[in-house]
Amino acid sequence: MTAQEVRKAYLDFFVERGHKAIPRAQLVPYNDPTTLFTGSGMQPLIPYLLGEPHQDGQRLVNSQACLRAQDIDEVGDNRHTTFFEMLGNWSLGDYFKAEQLPWFFEFLVDVVGLDPAKLYVTCFIGDRANGIPKDTESGGIWAKLFIDKGIDAGEVEIGSEADGAAKGLQNGRIFYYDAGKNWWCRAGKIDDMPEGEPGGPDSEVFYRFYEREHNEAEKQEYGENCHPNCDCGQFMEIGNSVFMEYVKKSGGFEKLPKRNVDFGGGLERIAAASLGDPDVFMISLLQPIIAKLEELSGKKYESHTESMRVIADHLRAATFLAVDGVKPSNKEQGYVMRRLVRRAIRHAFELGIEQNFLEQVVPVIADLYHEDFPEVASKRDEIIEALAKEERVFRQTLRKGLREFDKAYPADGTHGVVGSQKESKFIPTEDHKLQIDGAILFKLYDTFGFPLELSLEEAFKRDLVVPDYAKQEFDRLMREQRQRSQTAGKGVFKGGLGGQTMQHKKYHTATHLMYQALRDVLGDHVIQRGSNITEERLRFDFSHPQKVTPEEISRVEGIVNEQIAKDLQVSFQEYPTKVAIDEMGALGQFGDRYGDTVKVYKMIAGGADKPFSFEICGGPHVEHTAQLAEDGKRFKIIKEESSSAGVRRIKAVLA
Ligand code: ALA
Repeated sequence: MTAQEVRKAYLDFFVERGHKAIPRAQLVPYNDPTTLFTGSGMQPLIPYLLGEPHQDGQRLVNSQACLRAQDIDEVGDNRHTTFFEMLGNWSLGDYFKAEQLPWFFEFLVDVVGLDPAKLYVTCFIGDRANGIPKDTESGGIWAKLFIDKGIDAGEVEIGSEADGAAKGLQNGRIFYYDAGKNWWCRAGKIDDMPEGEPGGPDSEVFYRFYEREHNEAEKQEYGENCHPNCDCGQFMEIGNSVFMEYVKKSGGFEKLPKRNVDFGGGLERIAAASLGDPDVFMISLLQPIIAKLEELSGKKYESHTESMRVIADHLRAATFLAVDGVKPSNKEQGYVMRRLVRRAIRHAFELGIEQNFLEQVVPVIADLYHEDFPEVASKRDEIIEALAKEERVFRQTLRKGLREFDKAYPADGTHGVVGSQKESKFIPTEDHKLQIDGAILFKLYDTFGFPLELSLEEAFKRDLVVPDYAKQEFDRLMREQRQRSQTAGKGVFKGGLGGQTMQHKKYHTATHLMYQALRDVLGDHVIQRGSNITEERLRFDFSHPQKVTPEEISRVEGIVNEQIAKDLQVSFQEYPTKVAIDEMGALGQFGDRYGDTVKVYKMIAGGADKPFSFEICGGPHVEHTAQLAEDGKRFKIIKEESSSAGVRRIKAVLA
């Protein structure tokens, strides 16, 4: 099956089993401070997994576009991508293991046509310290499914990933791992879960592409034996059924009021399994991009595999970011987008592509998605232009870097820099050649976006010596920078977890009040452009052409505090989307991106006939606005600044 066929077959399969297909969420999460990007299909569904009723019922399915920026350095092997589609089906307090595992098995074997003998599964071994039992129920269901197909279903108790390398496969089919591998929660680790966070044991399915013992090199890198969670490439995880039935509380784990299923499967990986080729870049949603790169460069994928993979992945991710309205910038989502585009361009150098090429590659990507994602079709020209513009800007930066290089090391070999040698750290060698310093190579890379190869080439043209220690120094500085950015990435992900605490709810409610107050004071042109909430503050971006004056700010504060004092009642109700927006004037941010019905939050004073705030939103909120004033707190705007052209940003606190 092509990837497009796998996606369609999956959605159809679960719709036939009573699921409602829901639209994907945007890559930039709405009102979710936990992470920069939507990284799994369940993320937008957290309130419903915690027990709130969903407008589309208890069985949902979709294909969710996901971005995992933290994987950027992994891209280049045969299976990692920053952007991917996660096929997801959910049971919100409805079916459980006995339906989920057989359905997924049936989908893989009978619909996609995978050989069941190549499927291996893992289950949770239990966690005594946290009082969670071994998931023998899932193991039993799998055993029956395999035996029905005439396949041995031996069980192997592994434990941790490291135990896997020691214990090996032992001709098993069903493998039990500890919480490091078979427990799913957004925090990653069971012991990092904040209070209020849902999670549960999971059961993963792996596709085995080939069978062999580890060779010597693999033994060095991955340990003695292969096992399903080994990274050597023999096994690839293609789907994960999370049985989300626990919530972390102060005293330990408790059962959620209802048991949920949260399934996520990588579309790209299932499509690769369907082709029997472990290289996901060969599937129908990526191979045409590779083919275009081969055409533009005149080089072969076989000899330039890594660069072509990086370019294909990064430009696909950047294209979807553009579809979802992100613009390259130096902050947050925009920064990641810029980094993706620049990395792609740098790798294009390695293919010898030095001219503008995004305007040739991005249309190929748009063509792959335009039928299944109408927003890609409708924004096609806009996306191509936005990305082509970023490439022009970057190439200009590169040219500036080249001029810097020229100033420091003239190409005519006159070494006119001798006067500034100290500053530039040039050290003449005995034969009067100049040596280049690793710190300069790094600066050219970091400030001017020069790929190392380009600097080396320029150095060669100028008859400069590049000693080994300069390259080592460059590598060291690169490693340091990577560590810095990884730390920053982790901070963003973890810092906001616990996004459903009372403090988040208060700031969320305050955001609605402030949004309406801004419109009252500044006018109806004020439209929300972004929102981010932490336990410490709210942040809100909105369209407005000029600075908000101190006088306007104090009027907004006054209105919000007045509404808090009136103790508005907060409630929500579902409406058909058209009615909510066109007839009832609900505020919303996404235009046609909503499904058929929407949830609208209303904040209204007792006895009033018109709500103060009426806004489309997934929640959660406090129940009464007076809760925002507990302990005598007042709403206060602490910062007003420009966010981007025509967009202002406000930070506010309850203090
Ligand atoms: N939420 C689960 C995952 O991302 C399905 O693996």
